[in-house]
Amino acid sequence: MTETEGASDALVLFGATGDLAFKKIFPALQAMAKRGGLGVPVVAVGREPGHVDRIHARARESLEKHGGGVDADAFATLAGRLRYAGGDYNESATFDAIRAELGEARRPTFYLAIPPSAFAVVIRGLAKAGFSGGRAVVEKPFGRDLASAKRLNQILCEGFDEASIFRIDHYLGKTAVNNLMHFRFANSFLEPLWNRNLVESVQITMAERFGVEGRGGFYEEAGAIRDVMQNHLLQVLALLAMEPPIGSSPDALRDEKAKLLKAIRPPGRQDVVRGQFRGYREEPGVAPDSDVETFAALPLQIETWRWAGVPFLIRAGKCLPVNATEVLVKLRPPPQRVFSGVEFPHHAANHFRFRLGPEVEIALGAQVLAGGDAPAGAGESVELFACRDRHGVIEPYDRLLSDAMAGDPLLFARQDEVETAWGIVDPLLSEPSPVIPYAQGTWGPAEADLLGAAIGGWSPPQASPGDCG
Ligand code: BG6
Repeated sequence: MTETEGASDALVLFGATGDLAFKKIFPALQAMAKRGGLGVPVVAVGREPGHVDRIHARARESLEKHGGGVDADAFATLAGRLRYAGGDYNESATFDAIRAELGEARRPTFYLAIPPSAFAVVIRGLAKAGFSGGRAVVEKPFGRDLASAKRLNQILCEGFDEASIFRIDHYLGKTAVNNLMHFRFANSFLEPLWNRNLVESVQITMAERFGVEGRGGFYEEAGAIRDVMQNHLLQVLALLAMEPPIGSSPDALRDEKAKLLKAIRPPGRQDVVRGQFRGYREEPGVAPDSDVETFAALPLQIETWRWAGVPFLIRAGKCLPVNATEVLVKLRPPPQRVFSGVEFPHHAANHFRFRLGPEVEIALGAQVLAGGDAPAGAGESVELFACRDRHGVIEPYDRLLSDAMAGDPLLFARQDEVETAWGIVDPLLSEPSPVIPYAQGTWGPAEADLLGAAIGGWSPPQASPGDCG
């Protein structure tokens, strides 16, 4: 299956009755239909034989729960496109049924919204049924360590070449994440200061107020490092710290991200702080003696000319005080004190702050002369603040599915990025450090605060205002 040029003329959705389709893919399909971007048949595939009415009902329920409601016109378009082919993935009859539903379509996109353990049988089934000219969309987690990611790739390569494989990391479909790159490279003022001369430290926090929300079984196999650090946070770090791409082609970008990831010195197990919120072990599907981390904090060093010596800290956790993903780039303090008697305290604002979700915000933290009756020369911290509300923002799955179907790989992770990222976290996973309990609603174990002390402390993101107010 090598013909990848041009737009797909059908979507084949394996795992159509599963959780991912329910939560993310049907809402994305409705959004595509609403924008006039769903002009092809959608063949939903599940393991059970069934009638298309069942998938209509499932799609409707998905939209009511996760898609912001059913939009009558868009749903009519989606329902008109939907077909269903069900059966055992080991049986050639299932693939014959898919072929029949595809009609004249010759360049389908196969979305494998199925567990990686089912990839091999599906890909072999597709190859045997003679599907050619297609592309494959696969979800994270892509493997559970470097070795399994390589094996998974080998399986995919039996059916598709690299150019036809679209690996979804939904963070790469977020406007705010892509804006990091835009802000860096569409402006000229940043470049002279975006390096070890003026940047003192960088911290990235991905905080979630909620726990594992009934996904205990899944989470037991993952943990924070596999679930979000290996992919979302390292991708954000790559976009933030990479060199400018040499052009606008997808590979120019992916080359730079891969190069940056390769320059990260692999941390040791003693470097990471792994935490587990109290109560996790009582969640359904979780082992009573589980050692899986729901929080991780990790210092990283990037061994490049640009970043040598600048500490990068990343952390992610569940049951933390707020829902927010934020990057804070702290700048070095001014070299001399000009205003007599005025200290430049470490917490003085002197930074760039990027809120990557739920809102899209960029803030420049700076010192200005204090107002009111403050002593002469006293300063105060302010933030110059730009915010975009989410109205009209294309959601990640809508964006990524549309791009995959159009054959644009820009926002998808390439295999070398995925493997390099696994290489970074593998040492933390093969011999994990002990997990440390933390109270729900806190910023993780105290040991993580100690890591932050090296850079003057973590700066906890504030609760989202909920709008741009
Ligand atoms: C997913 C993880 O990839 O990202 C979840 O599996 C996590 O555990 C989610 O909650 C966060 O995504 P977002 O877009 O809500 O920040």
